[in-house]
Amino acid sequence: MTVAPHFDFKNGVLHAENVPLPALARQFGTPLYVYSRQALRDAWESYRSAAENRNVLVCFGMKANSNLAVLNEFRKLGAGFDIVSGGELARALAVGADPGKIVFSGVGKQAWEMQAALKAGVKCFNVESEAELAQLAQVAGQMDVVAPVSLRVNPDVDAQTHPYISTGLKENKFGIAIEEAVRVYQYASQLQNLRIVGVDCHIGSQITEVSPYLDALDKLIALIQTLAGLGIHIEHLDLGGGLGIRYTDETLVTPKTLLDQVFERLAAKGLDSLQIVLEPGRSLVGNAGILLTTVEYLKHGDTKNFAIVDAAMNDLIRPTLYDAWHSVEQVGPPSHDEVRTYDIVGPICESGDWLARDRRFALKQGELLAIMSAGAYAFTMASHYNTRPRAAEIMVDGDNCHVVRPRETIESLFAGEIPLD
Ligand code: LLP
Repeated sequence: MTVAPHFDFKNGVLHAENVPLPALARQFGTPLYVYSRQALRDAWESYRSAAENRNVLVCFGMKANSNLAVLNEFRKLGAGFDIVSGGELARALAVGADPGKIVFSGVGKQAWEMQAALKAGVKCFNVESEAELAQLAQVAGQMDVVAPVSLRVNPDVDAQTHPYISTGLKENKFGIAIEEAVRVYQYASQLQNLRIVGVDCHIGSQITEVSPYLDALDKLIALIQTLAGLGIHIEHLDLGGGLGIRYTDETLVTPKTLLDQVFERLAAKGLDSLQIVLEPGRSLVGNAGILLTTVEYLKHGDTKNFAIVDAAMNDLIRPTLYDAWHSVEQVGPPSHDEVRTYDIVGPICESGDWLARDRRFALKQGELLAIMSAGAYAFTMASHYNTRPRAAEIMVDGDNCHVVRPRETIESLFAGEIPLD
């Protein structure tokens, strides 16, 4: 039975590709992030094939998963990168990314980050305010270079997703209001050391309908046409990331559906020569990873049953932060104990430390659970809360597995700290 592509039950035991998860747990311990290399490749292929014969640049939104093994896989497949910090720039450069395929997003870029990105020669800065434009012009001036810029425009569309991950509405902190965009583009065009190259937006994440993209697209096409009338020529349109994945039974928008409709509208407006940039994060990695965990204790009560596992909110914060639903699978083979309804919780001293609620299982102490869809926004949002080392990351490749980040040692967590006399 396939749970997610490349995570299948064989003889009652959940595997990552050809590797049984219990073997990984024995070898590397739990909690453990396990990724499937083939799942990464397949996810990339869905974008590559949709972009074929079209002027499209796909920049992996690396905030979803920035392990160098993941980045290097996508780099080799031809991806660019969407970065949001000097740290992410350093990661991209560490795997030899082509700076000409890096777009720099984010609402609060600091001068040092601008300098580093200008030195590297990134494709574009997605600028989110007039103040940022002024600072970028100044930094580029000091370096005697020209900074390529897009303005991130807030098209005021509802991505119909969780409020914390919806970013295209007026009340969000992101971008420049669409009504202000023409004026700010004119301002940008007057600044020295800037070159306007694009228009950018990102309306939210885990989007499961195409209509919000098309609503945004219509507004941005109108903007591009107005700008052309003012002599401001736009070379690319960046539609951001946001395509959803299946955590449970969501219907999905495929990259092909999105790009077919986008290019249809561009053609209708005579904008075929425009390059389209996409910044997908979750849809490239989300279902390529799981979080493997061991049941430490079972606690049966009058009103609730708890399965206390060795993974916690520090390993996967999405359930408690967004009320997100992650499927949980018993790695198996199944036990014959009584089926009960459990909350799956971690050992952290917070009531908010839960990973899944009201799930029906016949569980026994010591058995393994797989928390699915943990390839995106899991490790990258992990913390050391309760002085818990971050778990190891394993990449499975057919019959083989590679440690792509070892488990942190406890000593390393406080190595830099200095007790005062
Ligand atoms: N581009 C920009 C400018 C973004 O802000 C984001 C995500 C992306 C691209 C990639 O979006 P994706 O394709 O992954 O939806 N931590 C949350 C998601 C936050 C998304 C933030 N921005 C979660 O776990 O659901």
